[in-house]
Amino acid sequence: MADKIKADKAPLLEVKNLQMHFPIYGGLFKKHVGNVYAVDGVNFTLNQGETLGLVGESGCGKSTTARAIAQLHTPTGGEVLFEGQNIAGKTGHELLAARQDMQMIFQDPYASLNPRMTAGNIIAEPMQIYKKRGMLEITKVQITERVEELMEKVGLSKHFRNRYPHEFSGGQRQRIGVARALSLNPKLILADEPVSALDVSIQSQILNLLKDLQIEFNLSYLFIAHDLAVIEHISDRIAVMYLGKIVEISRSTDLYSNPLHPYTEALLSAVPIPDPEVEKNRKRIILTGDVPSPDIQRPGCAFYERCPRAMDRCKKEMPVLTEITEDHQVACFLHEK
Ligand SMILES: Nc1ncnc2c1ncn2[C@@H]1O[C@H](COP(=O)(O)OP(=O)(O)O)[C@@H](O)[C@H]1O
Ligand SMILES: [Mg+2]
Repeated sequence: MADKIKADKAPLLEVKNLQMHFPIYGGLFKKHVGNVYAVDGVNFTLNQGETLGLVGESGCGKSTTARAIAQLHTPTGGEVLFEGQNIAGKTGHELLAARQDMQMIFQDPYASLNPRMTAGNIIAEPMQIYKKRGMLEITKVQITERVEELMEKVGLSKHFRNRYPHEFSGGQRQRIGVARALSLNPKLILADEPVSALDVSIQSQILNLLKDLQIEFNLSYLFIAHDLAVIEHISDRIAVMYLGKIVEISRSTDLYSNPLHPYTEALLSAVPIPDPEVEKNRKRIILTGDVPSPDIQRPGCAFYERCPRAMDRCKKEMPVLTEITEDHQVACFLHEK
């Protein structure tokens, strides 16, 4: 019993100093001329049953973080502890075994679903892979039953089993992606902008589906989005990412009511407020330009170039994530204790 309590309290996922530096090769002889520091020292934990939102503009390193966690990219540094076991660098059979309880959902369901496979086969594929390797005992009939059950769970008729991805709408295609991710009964789903490619009217349907499934199956989510509007209601905690690093992390309610990092404030400025009076009088921080290229490691704060409140030292010194109030950490000299 004591062991059980301890196990329940241990984080499901613990990411420690994760780095994903892609080498750049150039010149006539394709020499190694530098790196893209896409993910550069990311730390966070994710608890059982929790949703952690990961937010930041396009190019900040969110997808690379998710892919490096799932080992779709082998991280160049750091650890990915899943249920206490470091899976970073594992490959083949060993990786499949360690990662069975971790699945991904991708942004563009059209690009991520094989157009030549039927919906039923797409959903069954993870089970087939594990069955083939002797890691899952399941009969052909049971797979068919499971596919039908999953289709109904995600709101698709089982009679659509033999249809191809192009015969479904965008929202339905993402439901296929969700069913596939659920097929092995995972504990953690890494959802990389699962609604960004969908019409606004469809987004909330998919978000509601994910929330319902979370409760039914006690799922944990790492939920990636490029703006704060989408993840407000689904996230328990939110991590804000900028140029390969987490600059602020806190409980979701705290982040919206009391953002500490100027980058978080800027992201919040872009979220519309439904009350026109409040909307008219609010102070906005407009972000200009794009995220700078991550092909150099800056000595100071990554946000320095675009920060409206930058100070001299921000260019030279790197602020580290520091706890300001309980469960609220920020990497910014404005909040130094
Ligand atoms: N395979 C790769 N090789 C080189 N650079 C990459 C690769 N994948 C991503 N990048 C770069 O890493 C940075 C972060 O990309 P990404 O993780 O896709 O950001 P996000 O998902 O936040 O939009 C970008 O500058 C991107 O160009
Ligand atoms: Mg991305």
